[in-house]
Amino acid sequence: MTETTTPGRPAPDSGPAPSPDLADTTAPILVVALSEPFDLVANFKEDQDPRVTLVRPDEVEDPGAVTCAIAWRPAADAFDPYPNIKMVSSIAAGVDSIMDCPSLPSGVTVTRIRDEEQARMMAGFAAWHVLHHHRRMGDYLDNQKAARWDRSYRAPMASEVTVGLLGFGLMGQHTARALVAMGYRVLAASRSGNAALDGVEILSGPGAVAAVAARADYLVNLLPLTDETRDILDAALFATMPAGAVLIQLGRGEHLVEPDLLAALDRGHLAAASLDVFRDEPLPADSPFWAHPRVVVTPHKASDTTRSEILRQVAENYAALIAGETPPGAVDRDAGY
Ligand code: GLV
Repeated sequence: MTETTTPGRPAPDSGPAPSPDLADTTAPILVVALSEPFDLVANFKEDQDPRVTLVRPDEVEDPGAVTCAIAWRPAADAFDPYPNIKMVSSIAAGVDSIMDCPSLPSGVTVTRIRDEEQARMMAGFAAWHVLHHHRRMGDYLDNQKAARWDRSYRAPMASEVTVGLLGFGLMGQHTARALVAMGYRVLAASRSGNAALDGVEILSGPGAVAAVAARADYLVNLLPLTDETRDILDAALFATMPAGAVLIQLGRGEHLVEPDLLAALDRGHLAAASLDVFRDEPLPADSPFWAHPRVVVTPHKASDTTRSEILRQVAENYAALIAGETPPGAVDRDAGY
């Protein structure tokens, strides 16, 4: 896509950039890709959508003609050149790196990807980790290496095991459904308390996270990262969890106070943890998590959306915005997700 030229207007000689004409809904949407660590244009080059023309900032001839962006960990000043931006879409379910960007203009609509398929993938990932720890699959893998046939472990029945979910959005609901189908007792902390699901006990309100953690043999974190949830997985929360509980951390690295988890594991209060997200990604080679015997590390791969689905949702959210509707993927900027 590097050869793409910007179908923008000539830059004005002086004065503020004129607002582009948004009435032409047939023209491809000029979308600038804003990410400090990644070249999103290169990432998306196999997955074009005829409704979207994706460009890098250095390919934009007229910043005033840009009304839409996709972003993932944008630079602090990433939005400064674009006075007419109307919508910014995350390329993922999370919008934290966009919300935290100091140059994000206050009136811009922020959207995120809401993908049932991605949520089902997350559900499978979470269920796999619950099973892995509950059924001690790691021991069987070790035993296989030693040609050891050991049937001695008797796992509790799923109906005797409580899985607590932190977060009950699309991902949480799909994960709850999968776990209920497998026979687990499922509790969920939901900020709004609006959703209901058969077989799931939902707790909401200020004490919900702690109340779920206090009863969870397996605690699965699927919360969005906001000012309210940053550092929520800390020593105080771990102390309320039942002895021998397991943390399955699939939210954002900044939810977890990493030294507090190491301390809870090392004193034996928590039995194990599965970690897919980290404060520092890629996880540095000297992180104690890599070699920890009771930690499973995966490289932020719990769930993915296809690139064509991302571009499809960007086009649809933008079309809704231009039509004067609330885009289906719009986030609540006050809530932060
Ligand atoms: C991945 O981390 C996402 O936000 O979807």
